[in-house]
Amino acid sequence: MRILLVGGNGTIGKKVSKHFEKKHEVIIAARKAGDVLVDIADSSSIESMFGKIGTVDAIVCIAGEAKWAPFNELNEEDFYIGLRSKLMGQVNLVRIGQDYLNIGGSFTLTTGILADHPVMMTVSAAMVNGGIHSFVKAVSLELEKGQRINVVSPGLVEDAVEKYEAYFPGHNPIPMRKVINGYVKSVEGKGTGEIIRMYDNQ
Ligand SMILES: NC(=O)c1ccc[n+]([C@@H]2O[C@H](COP(=O)([O-])OP(=O)(O)OC[C@H]3O[C@@H](n4cnc5c(N)ncnc54)[C@H](OP(=O)(O)O)[C@@H]3O)[C@@H](O)[C@H]2O)c1
Repeated sequence: MRILLVGGNGTIGKKVSKHFEKKHEVIIAARKAGDVLVDIADSSSIESMFGKIGTVDAIVCIAGEAKWAPFNELNEEDFYIGLRSKLMGQVNLVRIGQDYLNIGGSFTLTTGILADHPVMMTVSAAMVNGGIHSFVKAVSLELEKGQRINVVSPGLVEDAVEKYEAYFPGHNPIPMRKVINGYVKSVEGKGTGEIIRMYDNQ
């Protein structure tokens, strides 16, 4: 398969790209470095990326930002960071990308545990994640040419524990192998409209 992986150099993305590269051709996209540059918060940048790479069999996005801060400190513009980047960035990747995704190809988006189990300071990120879950369920009913779409929703991943553990008291980190498998299930499986939750609440 020819797989476009947006965010393929990130904490999660680099492990997922390393895995897929064993069997597939992987094209890494990001803002600063990669095989092709893209800013998913800018739809003209998404169009220009697809103009350069052409058609693919799978489009995976492990990128997108939202502002973390106490609710009372978030102004309207702060909310638009997450709406433009993680939410509309991934929606536009699907909206524009459907014309560049081969018959039977798949989209895999990324959200996170905050959609279901928010913690302090994550109002914007949690809201965006929940919106993407609803988007995936709804758009899966309408995609054409046998195209599929799923979303992987990881808990705090093992490789990001140092950076985020203070925000997630009592959360069990998710092993990278398990996170990778969420993406493998979406790309190499046959499911569509699925929210692939990778949590460990025990
Ligand atoms: N880490 C966790 O524990 C965890 C858990 C659940 C969910 N998630 C979600 O998973 C996603 C990836 O997390 P991560 O920890 O791997 O993040 P990360 O280490 O910051 O990596 C993100 C990658 O995406 C690229 N990127 C960011 N914004 C972009 C944009 N607007 N357009 C194109 N590329 C962009 C970055 O490269 P450039 O800077 O070069 O663009 C980077 O390579 C995020 O949406 C995060 O919320 C993470």
